[in-house]
Amino acid sequence: MVKVTEGEIRKACSAPTDPLQFSHRSGTRSALPEMSVDDILAEIQRAADLPFVDSITLPAQAYTSQEFFDWEVENVFRKEWLCLAHVSQIPEIGDFMNVDLLGEPLLVIRDKSGDIQIHSRVCPHRGMDIMPPGFGHDGHHPAEARDGKADCGHTRLLLCPYHSWTFELDGKLKACAEMQEARGFNRDEWGLKTYRSEVWNGFIFVNLDGDAPKSVAEQYEGLGKHLERWNLADMELVMAREWDCPFNWKVLTENFMESYHHAGAHSKTLQPMMPAKDTWTEQEKAHYIKCHLPLKPAIRDEIAAMEGRGEQWDTFPPIPDVTGEDRFEWGLFLGFPMFKFLVTADCAIWYRTQPLGPDRIKLTTTMLVPKSSVKHPDFDAMLEKGIGQAVSFHLEDMEVCMAVQRGYYSSGYQRGRLSHLEMPIWMIQRYLAARSRGTWPTLDREPAASQRPDLEFIGSPA
Ligand code: FES
Ligand SMILES: [Fe+2]
Repeated sequence: MVKVTEGEIRKACSAPTDPLQFSHRSGTRSALPEMSVDDILAEIQRAADLPFVDSITLPAQAYTSQEFFDWEVENVFRKEWLCLAHVSQIPEIGDFMNVDLLGEPLLVIRDKSGDIQIHSRVCPHRGMDIMPPGFGHDGHHPAEARDGKADCGHTRLLLCPYHSWTFELDGKLKACAEMQEARGFNRDEWGLKTYRSEVWNGFIFVNLDGDAPKSVAEQYEGLGKHLERWNLADMELVMAREWDCPFNWKVLTENFMESYHHAGAHSKTLQPMMPAKDTWTEQEKAHYIKCHLPLKPAIRDEIAAMEGRGEQWDTFPPIPDVTGEDRFEWGLFLGFPMFKFLVTADCAIWYRTQPLGPDRIKLTTTMLVPKSSVKHPDFDAMLEKGIGQAVSFHLEDMEVCMAVQRGYYSSGYQRGRLSHLEMPIWMIQRYLAARSRGTWPTLDREPAASQRPDLEFIGSPA
């Protein structure tokens, strides 16, 4: 593909939502017939029930329908654990981040006991967002915005700017003037709403409806075992770049998880290191997908030769505990529904996803490295190189994702067939189908077998 620049991609992303610059007669942007949510779900179930060798793509409406997106919000996103931040982003008591998720203004904060909590920013008095855009910049707010950004910073108290109700970091109402005549008013009953949250391997998750049947640690137990050697909780997030993406969350998720496209979109960047044909997917699990992207033998030899000369092949110092096959591959994970991350021998990359509608997401691409790497005297140069590489292959992904979403609005869209290198796409279909049945894949179906049972060494079929 022709190399595009970051500026070109960002300009294309911020173009009017209709990627074809065309309003369809019917008032919808799609030339395809409308499908009801039930019809879309039936098609997802049908695709999910096909043996993998017969697998097909979903109807385009699964990526364009507002009604189906609303179904996903209620039946998938609000019910599941969603990842919002990493502990290194709020290391001190009083550090906070504002994150808007599915229409919920949230505040991720480290309270006075050092615990992390996730509160609603909606004031229990009259409903104001207690940290509206621009707060903290006039010097009259206890919160100091960090790096000139209103979405993260440090504070001693939480103050609603409207009538100055003041909350502790744990959300309890601390002070509210002139409420003595409100009959039966009890300050203890009027704190900020706090959502169910959990920190797992340093990542901070929220469960919006509060009823997720398992903890994050339980559902990602197999993942947790695998990731121990990376010590993710002790890493530091060293890059966060936001992207306004004009495509459905599944377009990004499928693209993130299948490595067939190394041969096309990444033919000059990732394919020479990790050829598509060598990538493979582990046995199906209830709550996550794990894929392996091995480095090709010539690269392994190059690493060995360089390390033999005392030189460093990786961008950052390799993590000493990451040995064996893990040293020579990228590990790619999807914690259902949207926890996308990958680990390499020297860093981790996490994609935070905030769906905004059927064809729009806010994406934050991040990079995490061990704290010891940050202290390296050459760290700044390493980081610049690492960001350059990560952004370069991400731009290639952005370009194809935008173009795929355009295809979904066309009468020329056909349900396609999947390569054996796209097993995660079929597994995501099986996940959505299971959620529509009120369960998870493998709890009421046989797990799909690993593509390389000879190499699969960790993880349970749970
Ligand atoms: S709305 Fe927050 S104090 Fe009134
Ligand atoms: Fe990609």
